[in-house]
Amino acid sequence: MTASLIADVDDVLSTTRAVRRRLDLDRRVPDDVIEQCVELARQAPIAKNVEQCRFVAVRDPELRAGLAALYRRAGNEIVLPRMAAAAREAGKAAKPTAQQRRNMASAMHLTEQLDAVPLLVLAGTIAPPPDEVVGPDASEFYGSVLPTVWSFQLALRSRGLGSSLTSMHLHFADEVAALLDLPDAFTQIALLPVAYTVGTDFRPAERTLPLDAVLHFDRWATTS
Ligand SMILES: Cc1cc2nc3c(=O)[nH]c(=O)nc-3n(C[C@H](O)[C@H](O)[C@H](O)COP(=O)(O)O)c2cc1C
Repeated sequence: MTASLIADVDDVLSTTRAVRRRLDLDRRVPDDVIEQCVELARQAPIAKNVEQCRFVAVRDPELRAGLAALYRRAGNEIVLPRMAAAAREAGKAAKPTAQQRRNMASAMHLTEQLDAVPLLVLAGTIAPPPDEVVGPDASEFYGSVLPTVWSFQLALRSRGLGSSLTSMHLHFADEVAALLDLPDAFTQIALLPVAYTVGTDFRPAERTLPLDAVLHFDRWATTS
């Protein structure tokens, strides 16, 4: 590996952010760019070496408007009321950080703009859902999709496009399935608004914990 390759990879890894406010809503996303990014994403790890992740790239304006309406409904009717209730319960002790407040404002902005985003990409799996929410089956189920989704986002970033991983639409998964004629065997996991970005300079996110709170060597309590 050359130093410049390492620097480029580090840059893509640290600056692939959830892009919501800086999506170019007027520029079409060519199919072949999405094809390249999905082809690359398929190199991500998959359990038992079985390819079960599937993408549906929604370009049609009417379908995008339908998805956006469901996303907005989920935000207004379910996510926002739950967040307000959680905030009331937690009181001042759980005051959101500046970064969390920025994220929330940006998430709300996306909710309002979603139908204008030129491409909405739904990702999911045809693997049977696990019986339990933790354990090896659950790990394989989600773990065979989310690394692929992240690789897709990295490939988009290196080509000047932005995206964000969202899941709010899952509150209305049945309605989304009906809208897009999804088969019963398909479980939706994420929805990614995709567009070229306005400018390509993005900064790493703030991570406030010290590294030794996140990384342990040998045993949990050992810090160095
Ligand atoms: C599983 C998962 C689901 C998410 N769902 C949503 C969502 O529905 N809407 C949203 O705006 N952000 C959602 N996010 C958060 C964004 O994708 C993003 O990670 C977060 O805002 C932090 O921004 P950053 O990635 O630029 O640091 C989700 C993230 C994850 C990992």
